[in-house]
Amino acid sequence: MRQFFTIASNAFMELVRQPVFLLLMTCSALFSVFLGLSLFIVYSTWAAFRGSHYFFGNYISPFYSPEIFGDSPHNWFGPKPTWWPAWLIFSPALLVLWAPGGFRLTCYYYRGAYYKSFWADPPACTVGEPRKTYLGERSFPLIMQNVHRYFLYLALVFILILTYDVWKSLWFVDPTTGKNVFGIGVGTVVLAINVVLLSGYTFGCHSLRHLAGGFLDQFSKSPTCYRAYACVTCFNRRHMLWAWLSLFWVGFTDLYVRLCSIGVWTDWRIV
Ligand code: FES
Repeated sequence: MRQFFTIASNAFMELVRQPVFLLLMTCSALFSVFLGLSLFIVYSTWAAFRGSHYFFGNYISPFYSPEIFGDSPHNWFGPKPTWWPAWLIFSPALLVLWAPGGFRLTCYYYRGAYYKSFWADPPACTVGEPRKTYLGERSFPLIMQNVHRYFLYLALVFILILTYDVWKSLWFVDPTTGKNVFGIGVGTVVLAINVVLLSGYTFGCHSLRHLAGGFLDQFSKSPTCYRAYACVTCFNRRHMLWAWLSLFWVGFTDLYVRLCSIGVWTDWRIV
């Protein structure tokens, strides 16, 4: 009898071992995604509404760039306009952050990630839907996600602006002469890495891939499109990795500029 129970329990364990392992792996992966995205949303919302400590000398936080109106020397059109309604909260980040935020929110990778980790619909790939009519992203409100391709155009402009911010971060005011002199600080490196990671993420966008060559039937007729397509594909292969690295680093870049501005961290000069 004891032998029978041993064999039965071994058979049972063998049967459930793999599904339980897969279930635990899936849950922990989904929880990590949930946690990572939640932390970023909470921090970036807090930072965007602060409206202060977003620049430090020649550095500006990527959450606040371009600073259309604002109190820093980085502003494009002067300080907060006088016509701004008194009842409406003002922060330079709120004027621009909707564009990169919308780009991430509608990203094909993030869509899959937050559909699964935030409301488990679908719970995972290839898992059947518990309803008769599956409308997916072909009806309102999720059909709005198709706006992603337009956010891509804005994201490309933001890459140029953030690259210009890196250029500005190479010029420091000499306290003795008052002139701008070339230099590299740790903040310069932080801002530069941010642009590299955001570029890797943006240039691997599925919509950009389609734009580069997805509309062609024969690549042989357009070698330029083929090269562009191959380049985007190269970034696209690791789109998830670029997405997470750039998400983390853009938040860290804001934190770096903020803590330098408050005086908690010292920006060391390398050159
Ligand atoms: S699909 Fe992820 S950025 Fe476009």
